[in-house]
Amino acid sequence: SKTYKITLLPGDGIGPEVVAESVKLLDVIAEKSDFSFEYTEALAGGAAIDARNDPMPQETIDACKASDAVLLGAVGGPKWDDLTGAMRPESGLLKIRKELAVFANLRPVAVPPSLAESSPLRPAAVIGVDLLTVRELTGGIYFGQPVGNDGNEAFNTMRYSVEEIERVARVAFEWARKRRNKVTSVDKANVLEVSRLWRDTVKALHKKEFSDVELDHMYIDNATMQMVINPRQFDVILTGNIFGDILSDTSATLGGSLGLLPSASLGKGTGLFEPVHGSAPDIAGQGKANPIAMILSTAMMLDDLGEGKAATAVRQGLEAALGHNLRTADLCHEGYTPASTSEMGELIRTETLRHL
Ligand code: NAD
Ligand code: IPM
Ligand code: MN
Repeated sequence: SKTYKITLLPGDGIGPEVVAESVKLLDVIAEKSDFSFEYTEALAGGAAIDARNDPMPQETIDACKASDAVLLGAVGGPKWDDLTGAMRPESGLLKIRKELAVFANLRPVAVPPSLAESSPLRPAAVIGVDLLTVRELTGGIYFGQPVGNDGNEAFNTMRYSVEEIERVARVAFEWARKRRNKVTSVDKANVLEVSRLWRDTVKALHKKEFSDVELDHMYIDNATMQMVINPRQFDVILTGNIFGDILSDTSATLGGSLGLLPSASLGKGTGLFEPVHGSAPDIAGQGKANPIAMILSTAMMLDDLGEGKAATAVRQGLEAALGHNLRTADLCHEGYTPASTSEMGELIRTETLRHL
């Protein structure tokens, strides 16, 4: 039977707390399936700075490249906030994304009725939301050269090539065909030269290969507002690195917590599966973190590994778990019983097993 090699990068803050729930879930899934998992845990982020003075040691990169998938918790935190440049925990994350060449970051958001009342928005506005942000992940202003800071003036550079835009746009169009056949490309083409190339390239590719897909263009400022005011209009959102970062956190308002949002970072080789949220220093070490974002990222991993049946069981198990009245603190409103990270994880495991 098949054994998948998984590299675990728990990282910092709540990262290790939520990764632990994914591992427990994978272990019970493996017990009932004809495949298994072999884990390698490696250092990343602040934890790697403390142990190796490097936020992304070469041994971690090698382990990731040698595995079938990478599960990452989160990196960063106040302890490392005075570090600069390549020594920051966040630089380690950017480095592994670049090394794995995972240029397409998929950030789905779905709001079932069981979550609608935890949103700060009106339930009627968010029930049935089902959107997918496709964020370019290895280019744009996060990586553009030159970069500099002489203490008096600082600069970053936003740049995209046609090739970089086309390959991520293709991912968005292909996903749209499997969904509701609509792509909204988000840019700032009214101001930025990079965005004008982005828009022209998306339009040309659409005309050439994807004219069956409905395509709209929206400016980032409007898109952020539309995300809150009328989120059901979106099917697939295609956007660059920094706009996608901002827009995906904005989309966390729909379900009411960043602790719900998963992601898959995909390229040609090993995929990286990471929640959208960070290390949440304000709740770290207290058993308060919502494990759902990490667990849904794990379901995306199972899909990518070709274990769609197990992925579906996780999603159905989660839906069933949300039918109970247990919630972690971020979603624990009137009428719900508070659950810790591991209590919520256990409930999702139990329900997943029933759907396997
Ligand atoms: P954050 O995502 O860590 O937290 C923002 C807010 O959301 C906090 O109030 C936090 O408590 C809450 N939250 C996040 N995840 C949650 C969960 N699973 N359950 C319940 N509540 C949750 O963002 P931040 O505070 O801006 O950043 C903290 C650190 O994390 C920084 O060092 C930042 O650079 C880093 N970060 C890392 C990643 C990553 O590793 N992928 C992503 C974002 C931020
Ligand atoms: C995310 C995070 C990262 C990003 C940071 C920590 C580098 O905010 O994954 O959304 O900006 O990509
Ligand atoms: Mn972010």
